[in-house]
Amino acid sequence: MMMSSNKFFTTFLLLSLSMFVLSHISNGQGPHHHDQQQKNPVAGHGRDHHQDDEGKGRGHDDHDDHKGNGKPKDDDHPPPHVKGCPQLETIARNITWTRVAADPTLAPKLLRLHFHDCFVRGCDASILLDSTASNSAEKDAIPNQTVAGYEVVDEIKARLEVVCPSSVSCADIVALAARDAVSFQFKRPMWPVSIGRKDGRVSSSSEASSNLPSPFSNFTTLLQEFKNKGLDLQDLVALSGAHTIGVGHCGLISDRLFNFTGVGDTDPSIARAYASLLRAKCSNLGANNVDPAIEMDPGSGSSFDTHYYTALRQNQGLFESDAALLTDQRSARMSRAFETNRELFFVAFGQSMVKMGAIGGVGAGEIRRNCHVIN
Ligand SMILES: *[C@@H]1O[C@H](CO)[C@@H](O)[C@H](O)[C@H]1NC(C)=O
Ligand SMILES: *[C@@H]1O[C@H](CO)[C@@H](O)[C@H](O)[C@H]1NC(C)=O
Ligand SMILES: *[C@@H]1O[C@H](CO)[C@@H](O)[C@H](O)[C@H]1NC(C)=O
Ligand SMILES: *[C@@H]1O[C@H](CO)[C@@H](O)[C@H](O)[C@H]1NC(C)=O
Repeated sequence: MMMSSNKFFTTFLLLSLSMFVLSHISNGQGPHHHDQQQKNPVAGHGRDHHQDDEGKGRGHDDHDDHKGNGKPKDDDHPPPHVKGCPQLETIARNITWTRVAADPTLAPKLLRLHFHDCFVRGCDASILLDSTASNSAEKDAIPNQTVAGYEVVDEIKARLEVVCPSSVSCADIVALAARDAVSFQFKRPMWPVSIGRKDGRVSSSSEASSNLPSPFSNFTTLLQEFKNKGLDLQDLVALSGAHTIGVGHCGLISDRLFNFTGVGDTDPSIARAYASLLRAKCSNLGANNVDPAIEMDPGSGSSFDTHYYTALRQNQGLFESDAALLTDQRSARMSRAFETNRELFFVAFGQSMVKMGAIGGVGAGEIRRNCHVIN
């Protein structure tokens, strides 16, 4: 069993959310603010994080407290007790927030690091292992271009090895850093992170290539890839919302822009004006190894918010895998629900991050001393 380590969403709130989202979707109503989550304290048993004080994720949906200047709201709570290393959460948060404050582009990178880690062999820090003479590691797989943030994980690990040696896995650090990176903007933890993962001893670039959802995938393929990991349609739509922050690169959309069906055409599903803008931005792709970066959430790429879903609805999804969410009625409706209810999106995103962070369970490995190499 993983141990709990957080204070925010009650388990039953998380569990009732699926029902909440689905009921909104299926009765075709536009969701709006209200408090109809069932408060059933029994529903949460059997999950690997226990329930804590409820309601902390709620009650802010009319504010735009992005940009990270909100007041810390939770310092009245002592840090949760993490067996073996009570300072874990404080240390991880402090270092992550310090680094993200200095370089906001780290937030999407740390989120992506966790995502990539979990989709290959479960969340076991296999993404952190360096290649060796005889093994090409996940890190060096093709989709690795924008994975980064390793140095933040290394810094947290180095500090933890001083304070509580060999008690916290690199996989747990990756999960915490992703959560804290997103949470920095809000100055409160946006979802609970279970602790107790083990670090794996295997990392393979070919596995990374075959397990990671591709930006070129259609809806059917994406949903299947998520299902293969125990995730569902709601997780697909919510986690795609991670693209509310960060950038993608022209290299991954050049076919969409310049040669969609092999006759020099543009993907007709992209809004025309946006397609022109993208073609202009990507026109120098390849010259001098340039691969320009483009916000995945146009105009709002550094704020964690629901604007990604607005962009989608306006046919401004950057990747085919973004635009694909509009090609299925259920995911299109869910995406619309998230667009119009920020709180719903935040809670759903947190819930899906918890599920994603549990892919592969605690695993069967070790606690690495150095995140780059097996012990
Ligand atoms: C947070 O980190 C900074 C520098 O990284 C350090 O000076 C400070 O003592 C840390 N605070 C806590 C509470 O750990
Ligand atoms: C993957 O990352 C490594 C190390 O940063 C880099 O050398 C390599 O070129 C990257 N692969 C691709 C396909 O971008
Ligand atoms: C989705 O992509 C897969 C793999 O490329 C393909 O086999 C399938 O026919 C596509 N489905 C649709 C509905 O286009
Ligand atoms: C466009 O795609 C076709 C078919 O894949 C290919 O033959 C052609 O070389 C491509 N054109 C460019 C400019 O890349």
